[in-house]
Amino acid sequence: YRGWPGLLAQYRSFLPVTESTPRLTLHEGNTPLIYAEVLSEQLDCHVYLKFEGANPTGSFKDRGMVMAVAKAKEAGKQTVICASTGNTSASAAAYAARAGLQAVILIPHGYVALGKLAQAVQYGARIVAIRGNFDRALEIVREVAEPLGMEIVNSINPYRLLGQQTAAFEICDVLGRAPDALYIPVGNAGNISAYWMGFEAYYHAGHVQSKPRMFGFEAEGAAAIVRGEPITSPETFATAIRIGNPASWDKAVHAADTSGGAIDFVTDDEIASAYRLIAREGVFAEPASAASVAGLMKRHRQGSLTPGETIVCVLTGNGLKDPDSAIRLAGDTAEVVDGDLQSVMAALGGTR
Ligand code: F0G
Repeated sequence: YRGWPGLLAQYRSFLPVTESTPRLTLHEGNTPLIYAEVLSEQLDCHVYLKFEGANPTGSFKDRGMVMAVAKAKEAGKQTVICASTGNTSASAAAYAARAGLQAVILIPHGYVALGKLAQAVQYGARIVAIRGNFDRALEIVREVAEPLGMEIVNSINPYRLLGQQTAAFEICDVLGRAPDALYIPVGNAGNISAYWMGFEAYYHAGHVQSKPRMFGFEAEGAAAIVRGEPITSPETFATAIRIGNPASWDKAVHAADTSGGAIDFVTDDEIASAYRLIAREGVFAEPASAASVAGLMKRHRQGSLTPGETIVCVLTGNGLKDPDSAIRLAGDTAEVVDGDLQSVMAALGGTR
């Protein structure tokens, strides 16, 4: 096989892959690191977008899921279970299908973007929609998994974070060095923790000579870490990060503190305008992903950026996951006209 072999093969030496680990892959990873021309010019920095929407199920979750599902299969489990705001469940459903396992997903009823739900349905997951939020769903998963003999594939499963480190490896491989700063959305706080582990591992292996400052951004209505206490009823239109009690809270704080970064919040309005800014670069990311760029713009306004620094903003999920948000925010801008030359010419303001 001459193409990209997938993460378990590519980064085998950094992962708990043994002889008996199934060679599971959907050829996840190797996602584009896109130079953001408009943003770089505007901020006088080198800004790159790590477009995780290019993964097989359209989000970064595939990096951790391929590892977690491979290990579940290796351990002889037949069913994996997770709570999810949508992306984890889509990824779990896909890799379970691929590995010949059953997936059970618990989602907050009414708060999962349409594309994510469609994926879980099509991949054949057993879907339980609870009247309650993500935090409640995760509490329940923690309770039921063991008696039901199911493997949890939320990021509390250590294999998830190990797999997700690979995004940091790829960034260093492409840049030939570590960036000066990494900007990333924070929901359940697993991904920022995994990136930090990844940068540390690459640094200790001697592949890079520095580590980035880590800047994580919660949505204002779900900013438990920033406020210093769990939020019972988190709210944000960025449903992927509508989480009030992040499982990897301490790890995320450790990443921000030891790297000289910070965890901050961005408002839904700031997320919405970053969502449009990203599209102007030619990239369609889902709303939660835009929290990274919203955070970058916030620090820019505060005068906190250093001219010339190299910044990577992680765009965690594909914009197609949540078509409703795009249409709702931009409006349905299609002009409907009759299907003839004259009508189209007239609509476009041309004369013949
Ligand atoms: N961005 C997207 C698109 C996500 O789906 C998530 C998390 C995050 C950011 C935050 O990452 O939780 O590691 O801090 N989604 C989880 C899910 C909760 O169930 O799909 P985190």
